[in-house]
Amino acid sequence: MEKKTIVITGGNSERGIGLGVGRRFAREGWRVLIMDLAKEPGEGCSQAVQDSGGAYYSVDVTNKKQVDAAMKDIFARYDFVDALFSNAGILQWVPFVDVTEEQFDREIGVNLKSMYLVGQPIARKMMERRKGSIILAGSMGGKESAPFQSVYAASKGGVIQLTKTMAQELGPYGIRVNCTCPGIINTDIGKGAPNPKIPWLDRTPLNRFGTPEDVAGVVWFLANEDSAYMTGQAINVTGGMMTF
Ligand SMILES: NC(=O)c1ccc[n+]([C@@H]2O[C@H](COP(=O)([O-])OP(=O)(O)OC[C@H]3O[C@@H](n4cnc5c(N)ncnc54)[C@H](O)[C@@H]3O)[C@@H](O)[C@H]2O)c1
Repeated sequence: MEKKTIVITGGNSERGIGLGVGRRFAREGWRVLIMDLAKEPGEGCSQAVQDSGGAYYSVDVTNKKQVDAAMKDIFARYDFVDALFSNAGILQWVPFVDVTEEQFDREIGVNLKSMYLVGQPIARKMMERRKGSIILAGSMGGKESAPFQSVYAASKGGVIQLTKTMAQELGPYGIRVNCTCPGIINTDIGKGAPNPKIPWLDRTPLNRFGTPEDVAGVVWFLANEDSAYMTGQAINVTGGMMTF
């Protein structure tokens, strides 16, 4: 059987969800292609792409030129991408009245615009082959919110709506589009939270924060045929924290 390929954006953070997903797909025998900001990948990322026979691309996913160059290389080398996990994201904690234009553009750029820049060339190729699975990184923050994350919540709400729209447009081509909506996952993205007193654990029946592996299991399911009849869904991965 031909080796399957997944593109993961934002997979270089050692404790991050993207690398957790990359490691899972590498273990399952997929080729893992990771795009992230750093010139060179860290040790964990390097190992995951190497184990999988994949590659690392130093790309700012908000930069169309850089994304297009990476995609050109990917399609020249690997021909087809079976799945995309559009995961790169940032979270800036800023009161609504203080958000600068630059902060707004940056966060919307990484969390939402990148899904167009990376998703469009991959979706076009999937349309030709009439198959593929696209998984976008949403968040519980796209369904409800907390103080000082107005741009994050707006971007993730956008991701959920984008998921639903892409699912409708691409479904007739046999392409499924879903998004993951994690609750609190122990990674570096939450660092610098101004209000650590929000009682997230009290709201979490499983009584622990999530791990990148918890999200990886869901991304694995969504990328594969076990979820063949699911599209347009925003899947909570929250340890039971109740949200719609
Ligand atoms: N950790 C959580 O609690 C949580 C909850 C819900 C959703 N999420 C979402 O999951 C995704 C991954 O988050 P994480 O917690 O692993 O965070 P993380 O900070 O560990 O990883 C984010 C990765 O994105 C990369 N990145 C940032 N800007 C980039 C750019 N312009 N170009 C390329 N790469 C870029 C970073 O370098 C990093 O490797 C994000 O979209 C985040 O919003 C996380």
